Amino acid sequence: MDAAAVIETENLTKLYGHQTAVDRLTLTVGEGEIFGFLGPNGAGKTTTLLMLLGLTEPTAGRVRVMGLDPARDPIRVKSRVGYLQENMGFYADLDARQMLRFVAELNGIAGRQAEERIAAALEAVGLAEEGRKKIAAFSRGMRQRLGIAELLIKDARLAFLDEPTLGLDPDATVRIMEMIMGLARERGMTIVLSSHQLNQVQKICDRVGIMIKGRMVAQGPMDQLAREKFGVGPEEFSLEEVYMKYFLEA
Ligand SMILES: Nc1ncnc2c1ncn2[C@@H]1O[C@H](COP(=O)(O)OP(=O)(O)OP(=O)(O)O)[C@@H](O)[C@H]1O
Ligand SMILES: [Mg+2]
Repeated sequence: MDAAAVIETENLTKLYGHQTAVDRLTLTVGEGEIFGFLGPNGAGKTTTLLMLLGLTEPTAGRVRVMGLDPARDPIRVKSRVGYLQENMGFYADLDARQMLRFVAELNGIAGRQAEERIAAALEAVGLAEEGRKKIAAFSRGMRQRLGIAELLIKDARLAFLDEPTLGLDPDATVRIMEMIMGLARERGMTIVLSSHQLNQVQKICDRVGIMIKGRMVAQGPMDQLAREKFGVGPEEFSLEEVYMKYFLEA
């Protein structure tokens, strides 16, 4: 397998009973890339992410994440990989600092180093003033930003973001997307982002994959997919139109 690839799968497949949730997925994501993982509800996106994280075992196929097999080495994979879930569950009783201290501890970071990282992470996500506020009192947007702070504390090399802007207002959405772009461009973090907000995806992703009924029907730079479907260049298309064309033809 390619040494520069952070994620590589080959015919990765997941069955739930007789139902095929992910069907022979072959995917490569390179270092520092922002990959947009698109597809309708029930397409198999979350199932794919769970296999990449070692949280559910593939039925068939090969998968490597930073050279490791997540099913065999889940702890090492999880220590390097961040995961922002669809519905971020936090310990609501903790305040933001306590929560991040807990994350630091889990990752073997303690003492002054932990406090410095926590302060820097809170600052970076615009929560410096909210460190002592209970997470129970956080808005959705604040919770998502706290999730990003968690990635910074861990210094994740790869992050899976499953609908990080779900339910956010337009301003909070743009802020989160800008932060995600910063993670990749300034820190070289590799990002796999699942989202239904295609106008935002179009702004920040380098490549996208479109999964429909478990099958990746298209994969590549957006202008390439646009050209395939419409024969036009990158200026003249919206990702939404391209997506709908693949969707209707699948
Ligand atoms: N634990 C499970 N047991 C049985 N079936 C499951 C399980 N998890 C997911 N599925 C099924 O697998 C398919 C893919 O689901 P998945 O959650 O991966 O889709 P998704 O692309 O993330 O959708 P969404 O955009 O709604 O989040 C669906 O048909 C779903 O019902
Ligand atoms: Mg999902």
